[in-house]
Amino acid sequence: MLDYQETPNQPLTLVIFGGTGDLTHRKLMPALYHLMADRRLPEETAILAIGRRGMDSEAYRQQARASIERFSRTGVEEERLGRFMERLFYHRMEFVSEPDSYEGLRKILSEREAGFSAPTVRLFFLAVAPEFFGPIVEQLGQRGLAERGNPNHRVMIEKPFGSDLETARTLNQTIANVLEERQVYRIDHYLGKEMIRNILAIRFANSLFEPLWNHHYIDNIQITSTETLGVQGRGAYYEQAGILKDMLQNHLLQMLALITMEPPVDLEPESVRDEKVKALRSLRRFEDENSCGGIVMGQYGAGEEQGKPVPGYRQEEAVDANSRTPTYIALRAQVDNFRWGGVPIYIRAGKRLDRSRTQIVIEFKRLPGVNFYPDFEGQPPNLLVIEVQPAEGMYFQINLKRPGNDFVMERVELNYSQHSRFQGNVPEAYEQLLLEAWRGNASLFTSWDELEHSWRFVEGIEHNCSGQNAQFPNYAAGGRGPEGADRMMALDGRKWWEIELPCEGTNCDTKS
Ligand code: BG6
Repeated sequence: MLDYQETPNQPLTLVIFGGTGDLTHRKLMPALYHLMADRRLPEETAILAIGRRGMDSEAYRQQARASIERFSRTGVEEERLGRFMERLFYHRMEFVSEPDSYEGLRKILSEREAGFSAPTVRLFFLAVAPEFFGPIVEQLGQRGLAERGNPNHRVMIEKPFGSDLETARTLNQTIANVLEERQVYRIDHYLGKEMIRNILAIRFANSLFEPLWNHHYIDNIQITSTETLGVQGRGAYYEQAGILKDMLQNHLLQMLALITMEPPVDLEPESVRDEKVKALRSLRRFEDENSCGGIVMGQYGAGEEQGKPVPGYRQEEAVDANSRTPTYIALRAQVDNFRWGGVPIYIRAGKRLDRSRTQIVIEFKRLPGVNFYPDFEGQPPNLLVIEVQPAEGMYFQINLKRPGNDFVMERVELNYSQHSRFQGNVPEAYEQLLLEAWRGNASLFTSWDELEHSWRFVEGIEHNCSGQNAQFPNYAAGGRGPEGADRMMALDGRKWWEIELPCEGTNCDTKS
């Protein structure tokens, strides 16, 4: 296990700005409960939730308890919950309109940390609206709560990091004026997902795959991330973001980078991030309108979810009745380097589709037809499927002879279901991210360079290919998405693989 701490098991103070928000209740509280319950975080931990609503710590703990009971990946055990609650506090603070309130926060932190036995890791988690990221970091710097160059003082920042390349640059500069890059942990929660973390192991710990991982043996790669849910009351945000900024710029490109990067010299954060940057730099941009044939955009109209009627995107709250914001994208990406030249990397993602699934399919090249092997003609290609969610696992499709007297070929699956094997014991993404930020391991977070190249790629699409949005809405909620996505594949002589991995237990409903 990699450990980056100055001394092992350093005490932790975690300050959550946005302590009463949705992310804190749905994700952070359950994650912190599990980390405390499993003794992954030190005994000397203090969690300070900051919010603008007036209440005391006891009232906050009651709310946190309800959230943990509702959203935790396992049941709740009273004794373990008690251990967590003892370390949870609430502090009311106007963090934008009353800069002097940072002085009060500084005192609270100093007092708590004075009681700890070793230098404390001070982690600020910004779970607030993006316009507050810059002002909060500036205050943390000015008031001496986060000291520049102090490796124990770290800031975790949620997405979206900017709304385009320029605003992302400005935000980055504001933060860079206060903190060094190594103190900044930019969150992409997909990097905390088990099967995404597994990509490095699958690629670089298996002699079966690594030699084949290139254009000589791989025909194409498909990255799919679809959801049945719509914008869930986030219409105002989504109008600005759309699928390009909500999913492509971050989660999808991060998966692409991990799948296509070169082997890093070691597993240190810098080494891994450097290779991801190179992969993102090699992505061919959509530089003019002529290049947009490799892109299909969509927006959902009214339809059904689980048999119930649901509104179209334009009817969602806070969405313009003539909105041209895309809620779906399918594209053919090219990583222009010697490993991947000529291998299409198809990406598709969208909201309000018929299933929720994140999956990466590696399609290997077919063997050439050989006249003297007529029974082997027309066999499907070998597929390696990395299922990120809901089933979590890996599946390898090969061709064998069916048992019996006749020589009949059959497609079989070698299937590893992590989900069934570690039922309920697989940590959620935010558990991993919080743990690694405490340990000081930045490899699960995105560096500025990665972000910069992701933004450039997305801006190329936004500037040159938005003409396609004229026909919106162009798919019905609850369906497979726009037909154009299938046409794009058909024109390339390929198809999207729809692989169903068996999933048992909780979180398996691919329709939810
Ligand atoms: C978030 C997006 O980053 O990721 C959401 O803002 C999206 O719109 C979500 O639904 C998907 O995450 P997950 O973990 O549910 O696949």
